[in-house]
Amino acid sequence: MSDLLIQLRGVTKRYGSGVAELMALKGIDLDIHAGEFVAIMGPSGSGKSTAMNILGCLDTPTTGQYLFKGAHVEALSRDQRARLRRRYLGFVFQGFNLLARTSAQENVELPLLYRGDSASVRRAAAAKALQAVGLGGWEHHTPAELSGGQQQRVAIARAIVTEPAVVLADEPTGNLDTQRSHEIMGLLMALNQDHGITVLMVTHEADMAAYAGRMVHFIDGRIADDVPNPHPTTTAPGAPSPVETR
Ligand SMILES: Nc1ncnc2c1ncn2[C@@H]1O[C@H](COP(=O)(O)OP(=O)(O)OP(=O)(O)O)[C@@H](O)[C@H]1O
Ligand SMILES: [Mg+2]
Repeated sequence: MSDLLIQLRGVTKRYGSGVAELMALKGIDLDIHAGEFVAIMGPSGSGKSTAMNILGCLDTPTTGQYLFKGAHVEALSRDQRARLRRRYLGFVFQGFNLLARTSAQENVELPLLYRGDSASVRRAAAAKALQAVGLGGWEHHTPAELSGGQQQRVAIARAIVTEPAVVLADEPTGNLDTQRSHEIMGLLMALNQDHGITVLMVTHEADMAAYAGRMVHFIDGRIADDVPNPHPTTTAPGAPSPVETR
């Protein structure tokens, strides 16, 4: 846990200008080590998604520094940031964000297509990722033919198919019922523990945050609280194990 992966130093984010100006982040300092599972909590509008977008290299700070593996992300060009994103980061969103008329297999293959992998490499990697989320055999189903929980599993498979160092999940269980939410948390936990993937997750639900080893609370654009969780939840009630589901 000593491998420092992410450092935010005095990160601010300003939206708009003049009377419309809004400081969404007012000076964030955050260190994240490789292998951590961090829950980010806080009221609506406190800057959680803004911080996730910066951490995910989808947006840049207005001021301050973001170091990823010691590299200054804020100094990278748009292309360089995109490359860093494709190589190291996977994303999971509240609304799944799958292509509608496209099979699970093809949805999962997409990041590999962007990367220029061959069809056979893509097919094998996507099948493996779908297997890892318990969706072996569901390759040819489209999102409309899958439940919400299954769609989020496809989205997780898409996030991990590139074997990222970090998975960023912004309210991944926000659209799911309690049972499905715990199943998704079981999967994120397995990615973290069994595959060593660093997980950064925004959630409004204390039950879901309880899976994380650390809880960071945002209030009004600042980190108000950053505490370890000494006893993270380790068993997702009723969650199928990713290995035994075939
Ligand atoms: N693209 C944008 N342009 C202007 N203001 C924005 C933009 N994105 C976010 N904001 C503002 O920045 C502040 C922080 O928003 P953010 O989305 O980070 O909050 P959040 O903590 O994720 O909230 P929620 O829990 O509702 O998702 C809010 O006041 C929001 O209105
Ligand atoms: Mg948000």
